[in-house]
Amino acid sequence: MSDDIFTLIHSRRSTRSFQDKPVPRQDIEKLLDAAIWAPSGGNNQSWLFTAILNREIISKLNGLLRRGFLVWTPDDDYPGKHGAKKAAQNEDFHFCNHAPALIIASNKPNYENAMADCALALENIFLAAESLGLGSCYINSPHWLRNDPGVREFLFTLGIPREHTICSSAAIGYIAKPSAPPPRKENTIRVIE
Ligand SMILES: Cc1cc2nc3c(=O)[nH]c(=O)nc-3n(C[C@H](O)[C@H](O)[C@H](O)COP(=O)(O)O)c2cc1C
Repeated sequence: MSDDIFTLIHSRRSTRSFQDKPVPRQDIEKLLDAAIWAPSGGNNQSWLFTAILNREIISKLNGLLRRGFLVWTPDDDYPGKHGAKKAAQNEDFHFCNHAPALIIASNKPNYENAMADCALALENIFLAAESLGLGSCYINSPHWLRNDPGVREFLFTLGIPREHTICSSAAIGYIAKPSAPPPRKENTIRVIE
């Protein structure tokens, strides 16, 4: 655990192996607070962050996503999309690696900065999670299947507004197996003086 921002930036990893242990609600509330203090285009704040701490609900969503992936045709060759579709063939598929908590970021679909605003908020969540000793991971599946009728209807029943689209989601939980830091690619930074 650390409060130093540079330490947190370097130590945060995408977690894909979680302990069973539930995340205390107070910690989730801190993450949600961190999310809404992110910048937003024109100070829109048109986002909504829905935290799900109920395993049955996450499991139901998993079943709907799995079913959705089986009939879904990826609209491009992004490897993650094809990987998820393939993984969904397996009965053990779990879109957020059995994380005990999931935060879904939704926003207005016709708003230019919807994805950017939610992504900035998610990074706040990830760094805040790291500071609380929690693991986190960006999870794209609910975004990819945002127009799947079963997934959409289920998310509406959870109170996500019908006029919103799913931008992204974050898996949160205690780390079971730490992820190794992927090396940074060279020549991705420049300074012009
Ligand atoms: C826009 C975006 C989408 C991502 N989608 C997923 C995802 O669906 N599933 C997943 O396991 N990781 C996902 N990730 C995490 C990346 O795979 C991860 O950040 C990258 O491999 C680098 O690892 P690190 O986060 O530990 O530095 C996503 C990250 C970003 C920024």
